[in-house]
Amino acid sequence: MRLLVAPLLLAWVAGATATVPVVPWHVPCPPGCACQIRPWYTPRSSYREATTVDCNDLFLTAVPPALPAGTQTLLLQSNSIVRVDQSELGYLANLTELDLSQNSFSDPRDCDLRALPQLLSLHLEENQLTQLEDHSFAGLASLQELYLNHNQLYRIAPRAFAGLSNLLRLHLNSNLLRAVDNRWFEMLPSLEILMIGGNKVDAILDMNFRPLANLRSLVLAGMNLREISDYALEGLQSLESLSFYDNRLARVPRRALEQVPGLKFLDLNKNPLQRVGPGDFANMLHLKELGLNNMEELVSIDKFALVNLPELTKLDITNNPRLSFIHPRAFRHLPQMETLMLNNNALSALHQQTVESLPNLQEVGLHGNPIRCDCVIRWANATSTRVRFIEPQSTLCAEPPDLQRLPVREVAFREMTDHCLPLISPRSFPPRLQVASGDSLLLHCRALAEPEPEIYWVTPAGVRLTAAWAGRKYRVYPEGTLELRRVTAQEAGLYTCVAQNLVGADTKTVSVVVGRAPLQRGRDEAWGLELRVQETHPYHILLSWVSPPNTVSTNLTWASASTLRGHRATALARLPRGTHAALAAQLGAGQPRQSVGGRPLLPVWAFWGWSAPSARVVSAPLVLHWNPGRKWPRSSEGETRSPPPSQNS
Ligand SMILES: *[C@@H]1O[C@H](CO)[C@@H](O)[C@H](O)[C@H]1NC(C)=O
Ligand SMILES: *[C@@H]1O[C@H](CO)[C@@H](O)[C@H](O)[C@H]1NC(C)=O
Ligand SMILES: *[C@@H]1O[C@H](CO)[C@@H](O)[C@H](O)[C@H]1NC(C)=O
Repeated sequence: MRLLVAPLLLAWVAGATATVPVVPWHVPCPPGCACQIRPWYTPRSSYREATTVDCNDLFLTAVPPALPAGTQTLLLQSNSIVRVDQSELGYLANLTELDLSQNSFSDPRDCDLRALPQLLSLHLEENQLTQLEDHSFAGLASLQELYLNHNQLYRIAPRAFAGLSNLLRLHLNSNLLRAVDNRWFEMLPSLEILMIGGNKVDAILDMNFRPLANLRSLVLAGMNLREISDYALEGLQSLESLSFYDNRLARVPRRALEQVPGLKFLDLNKNPLQRVGPGDFANMLHLKELGLNNMEELVSIDKFALVNLPELTKLDITNNPRLSFIHPRAFRHLPQMETLMLNNNALSALHQQTVESLPNLQEVGLHGNPIRCDCVIRWANATSTRVRFIEPQSTLCAEPPDLQRLPVREVAFREMTDHCLPLISPRSFPPRLQVASGDSLLLHCRALAEPEPEIYWVTPAGVRLTAAWAGRKYRVYPEGTLELRRVTAQEAGLYTCVAQNLVGADTKTVSVVVGRAPLQRGRDEAWGLELRVQETHPYHILLSWVSPPNTVSTNLTWASASTLRGHRATALARLPRGTHAALAAQLGAGQPRQSVGGRPLLPVWAFWGWSAPSARVVSAPLVLHWNPGRKWPRSSEGETRSPPPSQNS
């Protein structure tokens, strides 16, 4: 996110990197402080020199007395000041910047700054402010920057900012606000930058920011936002940079974005979008950069996902562990697009049509993807390609086996045919999914091939559902997504997606389980599978478990095994299909043997069952509970490299 917002903000803080020398300021200086003439930039980035008194980090409990009368910048950061009285600063007629960050203010009334009409910049971040009353900053009529971030503000009165009609920049991020009140902004007609992220606000209401007609940059990062109402951004007619970084948006807020036609930089990184659908980004006439990175759930960029963005030059779609498909015609009318970053996704290819649809494309980043070097990507080293690869030496083939680890650009594609088999993206859905009765489910099946494949689904009853099928229980979308509506036990079973063209077909199956696992104990164990150790022997143990209802098969994999003392025993044993049965698992014979009082000590086992994201091993006196959540990558073969198991009790 920072990268995207940066270009705009940098212009504002250009002074930070200035190399103008600091010269001594010969005045009587308070003990411990440094009095110097330092470079200073106004909030509007014009350069000045400022007489500076630097009393940072001195364990001060009060403002030092008898400061030089000509002080323009007073730095009191990182002290223990709890009160400032008007008389302590009022005589500094030229004070323009006051830094009181990292002190101990808890009540803004203890920070009496009534008579500083020339002050431009006030830093109160990292204090313990909890509330702001009406007129908290009265008398600071010139103020242009106000930093209140990293406090504990949970309430701000509607007229708290009254009188700040020149304020350009307001930092309210990382507080405890639960709501955004548009009355605050009525007092702030000049505001250009608003940082309000890191507050636990659930929803932004219609017209929340309406009074901010001059706002250029809005950061709504880390706020728990699930939904952006259609008119939430209304009135932000000057907005250029918008960040929704790290929220809970499952959908692109299309309608809301239509309200900000001047937008240039948009950051949606780290949101749980599953797919970018047709027209999700359309007709944003000034958009230059778009970020869709770090999305755990993102599977697909569909046909016409980005349409008519005439000024878009850079698109970042990176670090999306499940993103395995970009439709050949995902992009349409992006005439200025120069840089397409697609590294570190799960893409098996980028279609030639995608590249050809971008007439101005200069460079593409495809490294860190499991690329299948077949005819779909043969454009990559065609002599006519004008597109530069970023990190070509790490843009490697993952398949077929004979080309593995060869840079894509060095493959002799010339000898290949023009046709290739469909490949269903392996990470588009897991082999098994559990849903509660009555829930709906979306299964995204996508495939690239040459020629373009037809996609259809086969239900457990053997019914074939082609694209655009719509029935009471099932619907298949043109891109290949199967929707199961209000699932009941009758719909449980194996669903198969088939992608077919004239060369052949690929299939991928998902077992849909309806209802929950029978062992529901604690909150964390609701989806747990309990493995009971029936017998222990030096080299094998006997386990039993109960399969959840409707399970087609339960595959367990020994993912890792290590002893309590830290010895590694890398026995990997696949357990056969389990159906309400007790099974014996043979361990590797080289296993270090340990016993306590003649009784074999069990290694610490980590189990993985497709039937549950967590597993328990019970073997008195040892109870292990392992819950890897969804963070740990599964390889497509169905084995899991597990983290070290955690041990509860
Ligand atoms: C404050 O600034 C003005 C204008 O630059 C200057 O004339 C005046 O001497 C300054 N006041 C003090 C106390 O230094
Ligand atoms: C692709 O790369 C290989 C190795 O660098 C080269 O021999 C071949 O001619 C290139 N071009 C095509 C169209 O295959
Ligand atoms: C279970 O394992 C067998 C054999 O490796 C495999 O064929 C089958 O697809 C697996 N089933 C699931 C649900 O993973």
